[in-house]
Amino acid sequence: ADIPVICIDGPSACGKGTLAAAVAQRLGYHVLDSGALYRLLGLAAQRAGVPTDDAALADAAVAERLAALAAQLPARFADGRIWLGDDDVTDEVRSQAAGAAASRVSALPAVRAALLQAQRAWRRLPGLVADGRDMGTVVFPDAPLKVYLTAGVAERARRRYEQLRARGEHASIDDLLAELQTRDARDRARSVAALKPAEDALLLDNTHQSIEQSVQTVLQWWQQRR
Ligand code: C5P
Repeated sequence: ADIPVICIDGPSACGKGTLAAAVAQRLGYHVLDSGALYRLLGLAAQRAGVPTDDAALADAAVAERLAALAAQLPARFADGRIWLGDDDVTDEVRSQAAGAAASRVSALPAVRAALLQAQRAWRRLPGLVADGRDMGTVVFPDAPLKVYLTAGVAERARRRYEQLRARGEHASIDDLLAELQTRDARDRARSVAALKPAEDALLLDNTHQSIEQSVQTVLQWWQQRR
């Protein structure tokens, strides 16, 4: 527990991943993209033919299979790429479909329990920046710095739109907005590890901030905390 960890939690598309990567780079720390684990599980389920629609998830046998997949998830992160076993799934894992599947499978308590140790194993010297929904509330409750990042939903939809467009994918802003709202509502309402700020989290609203401004804020907080 002496190994430093900075948690960055918040809703979909608020810039957690970008902020976590930038802060980790400045500090020379490791970075855990916990959402990628749930996204990889969604893909693994699809490949194994395990359904992840809401009706299927209510079936205890399906939940058990998903938890078993989660316990042996062949996830690998290297050189900015994400692998599921021998497949480079970096682009697939970032797709809207993978995000939606992740949001559904991640509501299962057995799945979350199965991924807990794997996430904690990322806490290695010289330190870790972890981003997700429950880094500060569940995975690293003793973290000396917990940031709860938010941005207005319209701004988040706009950023997601630009991100997709830059990758040559087409989407409508209205659809993206509706999807973000569905995903956030599901993440907030679930009974385990619901999306909410840890009691000791510092709030950061980056709606009108540049990435660099947010990075500087977090680095200053980190200096004060250590
Ligand atoms: O952060 P990202 O959009 O990649 O996460 C995808 C989904 O995975 C989220 O909507 C959320 O339901 C789930 N998730 C989670 N706990 C985390 C990270 C992600 O439940 N720590």
